[in-house]
Amino acid sequence: MIGRLNHVAIAVPDLEAATALYRDTLGATVSRAVDQPDHGVTTVFIELPNTKIELLGALGDASPIAAFLAKNPVGGMHHVCYEVDDILAARDQIVAQGARVIGDGEPRVGAHDKPVLFLHPKDFCGTLIELEQV
Ligand code: CO
Repeated sequence: MIGRLNHVAIAVPDLEAATALYRDTLGATVSRAVDQPDHGVTTVFIELPNTKIELLGALGDASPIAAFLAKNPVGGMHHVCYEVDDILAARDQIVAQGARVIGDGEPRVGAHDKPVLFLHPKDFCGTLIELEQV
């Protein structure tokens, strides 16, 4: 069901510093920072030959990554994103297998203007999984 790895997301306390680290120290191609007010984050995408890295900075007081950053003050891997062809079919299959989708189970528009869902990390080896319909 899952397809390509779309991106690995890393939550960071200082998005500018993290962007500079990837651009200058690691020599990667970085996007501009984009605020995602619906998700409470600001994102920067790092383009790699075979996938992307999504740097996540907190946006606003109620950012969903605030608690993660409190536990991981220097930042850390936040989620992995797998591509699916049909997000509703994927969701229904996952729920039928007994795993949990976070929130009300309805896809939302993600950082690439495509429908996304998040799966509960306790049901997936301690890893928060994002599914993106491509
Ligand atoms: Co993501």
